[in-house]
Amino acid sequence: MTHLERIKIFDTTLRDGEQSPGCSMNLSEKIRLARRLQALGVDVIEAGFPIASEGDFAAVKAVAAECRGVSVAALCRTTEQDILRAWEAVGAAARPRLHTFVATSDIHLEHKLKRTRAEVLKMTRDAVRLARTFTEDVEFSAEDATRSDLNYLCEVFAAAVEEGARTLNVPDTVGYTTPTEFREIIAAVRERVVGERDVTISVHCHNDLGLAVANSLAALDAGARQVECTINGIGERAGNAALEEVVMALHVRADRLPYACGVRTEALYPTSQLLTEIIGFGVQPNKAVVGRNAFAHEAGIHQHGVLSNPLCYEIMTPESVGVPSNNIVLGKHSGRHALARRFDELGFTLTPSELEEAYHQFTELADRKKNIYDQDLLSLLPARQRHEHAPALGAAALKLDLVEAVGR
Ligand code: KIV
Ligand code: ZN
Repeated sequence: MTHLERIKIFDTTLRDGEQSPGCSMNLSEKIRLARRLQALGVDVIEAGFPIASEGDFAAVKAVAAECRGVSVAALCRTTEQDILRAWEAVGAAARPRLHTFVATSDIHLEHKLKRTRAEVLKMTRDAVRLARTFTEDVEFSAEDATRSDLNYLCEVFAAAVEEGARTLNVPDTVGYTTPTEFREIIAAVRERVVGERDVTISVHCHNDLGLAVANSLAALDAGARQVECTINGIGERAGNAALEEVVMALHVRADRLPYACGVRTEALYPTSQLLTEIIGFGVQPNKAVVGRNAFAHEAGIHQHGVLSNPLCYEIMTPESVGVPSNNIVLGKHSGRHALARRFDELGFTLTPSELEEAYHQFTELADRKKNIYDQDLLSLLPARQRHEHAPALGAAALKLDLVEAVGR
């Protein structure tokens, strides 16, 4: 069996995710989600950016008090004021982490920070040194790392390590990099800065080109051992790497990605649903792993295959990510097998000729109607079945209502 090396999952749903449009959460919602993230098995919860607002400060403090089985990180820039405020919020955590960051790309230095490279180098040193007076667990991020000059990036990282940073985070802040390029950047940081030292390389990828997960996985190949990600991929602009996608890629392709993490995969879908409920919007139907259609099969050939053996068209089971069961959607592309299976699930066994007749009516109905529900199927039953099972029809309709009510 392949040896699986342990990597850390750093969840930033409550920080990067929460700061994106429409995703704000109140204190009790943050605590609810943080508890769930802890139960999910993430290694680090980034609970907020304490200097940013009173709300963020309170949330970090509350999560630190609540989640004793996980590291809790607080974000801060490289200023003394930021670091002191972050520590005030997170210091009481069972495992507190200070996460300090500064931009290293020339475009950010010139237009945003208005600082020279030498000044940013000094800011890095001062910040990490100060943070280390509070805790051993200091993470340093070079914002916009992927658009930074590689020599300068390595110089800044080397300074952070010298001052005691234990984690070096390489953010693709604007979602600009590609898997091959990112692999090279991570390999360079590993060879030129980390070497044999006990320092974890972390990655934090944004999804502007839809590459956040691919880039994160490529980074693991080059030596990264922490992935920063969010539930449902929420985050600034196009979002962050989706936690559920990273985790399931590791599970499904352990042959190619020999890394283990502590996440309980069966809790992925319920956690995604909780976030959806809290922020009031969900993922697109075809979203990998947690989308409504992620395990839905409509084409007749696919349905027949899945019903014979799910492995025909499913690389992971719905149950493995906490989705109750596979979701055969009946529509105009469905075949007789799926129809018979659904009737069977509803308690009706049709003879071949009854099935043929029902199927004929079904295709006519499916041409007219976008979604076919269980109650539609009941009207296709032969009279014999309808009379024999009169009481069961009520139950089937009720089952339909329940399915509708829970959205699956
Ligand atoms: O995207 C980014 O660069 C960040 C840092 C603060 C880690 O979110
Ligand atoms: Zn970010």
